[in-house]
Amino acid sequence: MSTNPALPLAVDFRPYVPEGYRPGIGIIGIGNIVKSSHLPAYEKFGIPVAAVYDANQAATEGVVEKFGVGRVASSLEDLLEDPAIEVVDIATFPSARIPLVRQALAAGKHVLSQKPFALDVPTAQSLIDEADRRALKLAVNQNGRWSPPWRTATRLIEGGAIGEIVSVTHVLDSSFRWTIGTHFEKIPHWAIYDYAVHWIDITRCWMGERTPASVRAHDYRTPNQPPESLTPWGLVIEITYEDGANAVIRGTGGEPLTQPEGHPFFVTGTEGRIRGSVLNTDFVELQRESATVSYALEGRWFPEGFAGTMGELLSAIQEDREPSNSARHNLRSLEVTLAACEPADQDGAPVMLPLARQPAASATQPSR
Ligand SMILES: NC(=O)c1ccc[n+]([C@@H]2O[C@H](COP(=O)([O-])OP(=O)(O)OC[C@H]3O[C@@H](n4cnc5c(N)ncnc54)[C@H](O)[C@@H]3O)[C@@H](O)[C@H]2O)c1
Repeated sequence: MSTNPALPLAVDFRPYVPEGYRPGIGIIGIGNIVKSSHLPAYEKFGIPVAAVYDANQAATEGVVEKFGVGRVASSLEDLLEDPAIEVVDIATFPSARIPLVRQALAAGKHVLSQKPFALDVPTAQSLIDEADRRALKLAVNQNGRWSPPWRTATRLIEGGAIGEIVSVTHVLDSSFRWTIGTHFEKIPHWAIYDYAVHWIDITRCWMGERTPASVRAHDYRTPNQPPESLTPWGLVIEITYEDGANAVIRGTGGEPLTQPEGHPFFVTGTEGRIRGSVLNTDFVELQRESATVSYALEGRWFPEGFAGTMGELLSAIQEDREPSNSARHNLRSLEVTLAACEPADQDGAPVMLPLARQPAASATQPSR
């Protein structure tokens, strides 16, 4: 006999931006993702951007006119010393981002950092400590948490709709052809470190306080991968938890068969199951006993999810609490992601957690 709460027929999955609190926001690093997602989401949800700055001035061309940004700052200092700016959104790659996060915190600003949060756990922890010392909020832009199907699943899981989680399964049934010739190909274990980090992070959210015990991962060139592509497209990541729960993330290297590409997921619990898919194939449903509920969704991960991460940071500042997407909460996702990159270097031998807390010796990341 089920002890479940009543079957929820509707779930509030939308990003929330607090009423009556619109601090000045500055954005550093006006690259592809800012122009395609941060700025459109902020414009749609009424989050005004006071100033932007990019080391490459050309990158900021047109954003004032197109997105109603207040101004283009003439230098990093110009943006960080602007008293009207309370929150700084930093969207460079991690190697350039770490010193920028430190500088923004030193200037007394709350920070939203793009993902992956850092190149190693000790550096990530030092940034968290720095924010704590200054009583500032430090959040990570894991915007997938606000993709409508995943957000719905998170709410259902938190409400006990499927009981205790037994397993999580994600399939990245997607072609990575779009990475050819991009800076992403220069990132070691790109598909795990830079891409699957979103899938590792949402799994971390669903698994809650369960402790991951070991990670086993493998990335490989798929047989159908064109020779000109430089980064492996296939991947398998398995995360085992101390209580026996288990999560698997599988990248199929699907090429050229995926139209539209799909990223299905299954969360199996002691009392039910959630099935869904993200990215161009959005749906989510809850199955329990003989009943199935399909949830109506609107919006997408890109760009609406980007209002979710910023909205949560603004809410946390307004309510003086830790944001749910805090760097502290994201640290476990980062740790599992980095752990998954290790066995990928060692023929899939499992890595026990927690990782030895040493700074990465030679992480090579594009410094763009
Ligand atoms: N879902 C997501 O949230 C998502 C999606 C794509 C990319 N990303 C992440 O966003 C980050 C940026 O990716 P992108 O594709 O936009 O890269 P990009 O290269 O297009 O943009 C980075 C920008 O940062 C600028 N920059 C570099 N160093 C700087 C510095 N010291 N000061 C000021 N500006 C500086 C560059 O000139 C460039 O315009 C990466 O960490 C990537 O993983 C996240």
